[in-house]
Amino acid sequence: MLRFGTVIPISSYSSITCSCINNHPHHPTSLSTSVSEASLKATMNRLAGVARLMIVSDLDHTMVDHHDLDNLALLRFNALWESNYRNNSLLVFSTGRSPTLYKELRKEKPLLVPDITIMSVGTEITYGNSMIPDGGWIEILNQKWNRNVVSEETKKISELTLQSETEQRPHKVSFYIQKDKAEDIMKVLSTRLEERGLDVKIIYSGGMDLDILPQGAGKGQALAYLLKKFKAEGNLPHNTLVCGDSGNDAELFSIPDVHGVMVSNAQEELLQWHVANAKDNPKIIHATERCAAGIIQAIGYFNLGPSKSPRDVTDLSDSKMEKFDPAYEVVKFYLFYERWRRAEVENSELYFANLKAVCCPSGILVHPSGIEQSLHDCINSLRQCYGDKQGKQFWVWVDQVLFSQLGSDSWLVNFKKWEQSGEERKGCLTTAVLSSKDVTVAKGLTWLHVHQTWLNEAGSSNGISWLF
Ligand code: GLC
Ligand code: MG
Repeated sequence: MLRFGTVIPISSYSSITCSCINNHPHHPTSLSTSVSEASLKATMNRLAGVARLMIVSDLDHTMVDHHDLDNLALLRFNALWESNYRNNSLLVFSTGRSPTLYKELRKEKPLLVPDITIMSVGTEITYGNSMIPDGGWIEILNQKWNRNVVSEETKKISELTLQSETEQRPHKVSFYIQKDKAEDIMKVLSTRLEERGLDVKIIYSGGMDLDILPQGAGKGQALAYLLKKFKAEGNLPHNTLVCGDSGNDAELFSIPDVHGVMVSNAQEELLQWHVANAKDNPKIIHATERCAAGIIQAIGYFNLGPSKSPRDVTDLSDSKMEKFDPAYEVVKFYLFYERWRRAEVENSELYFANLKAVCCPSGILVHPSGIEQSLHDCINSLRQCYGDKQGKQFWVWVDQVLFSQLGSDSWLVNFKKWEQSGEERKGCLTTAVLSSKDVTVAKGLTWLHVHQTWLNEAGSSNGISWLF
């Protein structure tokens, strides 16, 4: 469903100084703070320095196009990110969804794993794969916040319908409200909460959602908090690109020095906010492309780095590479694999020979079932599968492609390989050793060894059709 939204400007609510409230049940412990500091550092260390680009993107109707059932733009973005950015940049998702609904979206759509996840409209910041919460942020949000008071006051207003339990979070109370009643109710609510000593932010989105957050929360404030941390560590990303479509993303575009893209399908309210607040800012564009395609467009427009997705390259064997690139190799290999099974490349001897040439004759694949196979046998099996997914829903993508150089001519690459056939999704944690010995840059790296382990139960219970 398309939504449009309104942000009640922060300035329209006066700040109230009040000494009374500090009884929130979610007090951070110094332990959780230090754990999150450590995981932010781990995220930064992975980059060995400053991020080339940090993308901070909303999910619904921005990274994710709910009208694109084939997820074409998202898969194009994924291939671009993994081949060119994962190893040196930061991916941040910033969503209104709670952790529960965020995880549901992850099951529905081929989303990459971000380095940092900001959920519940900027009230929850987590790091890394295990999503370690930022204790320092919780501490800040506790100031002048008491969700019991918010519950008490909102119960008195019959026009407000509480959203589902999953969307009620420690620093976010969310309702539905009819569009024509929203403005008046927000004014009433704001006054009453002010009288009770709270300093809150009320955000109205999509003509239906009303979120009440601590004044210091929100997508923009969460980003400002992160940037401040990076700066303190001397790790401010070279460039930051924020991406959004609706009113509650507006705050992201008001952060100084960031580039911004409003995707082509952006809601009227965001566009109006832009006209009123940021129309002379050359660092913000309204893309002509929808959702993730608009993000790719902005990377190119602002010259933030490569903007051609490997998915937009028709002949993958026609390499224009300047140096050996393990991440590009992995993305290219699995893209070819998808195209082969969908019969989107020609079933030719030449392609087949090329594929065999990139696999070492003595190379081994440890299949996730535990069986060892020669890489050449795997390629022979793939040959038999030409076109078996033609005209069917079948996608292959790789995630978190990270590599390190082992010696002068070899690399260790780790990644997650996912394959979706209709509703069924299977994934393997994959480790590969690639070598540049006796090959040219144009030919690409040779696969010496591949080892896979199931990432989910769907794979292990029905893994016979898994090739590699
Ligand atoms: C997401 C959340 C919802 C919130 C809305 C607007 O849809 O699930 O709770 O009200 O975003 O921020
Ligand atoms: Mg959105």
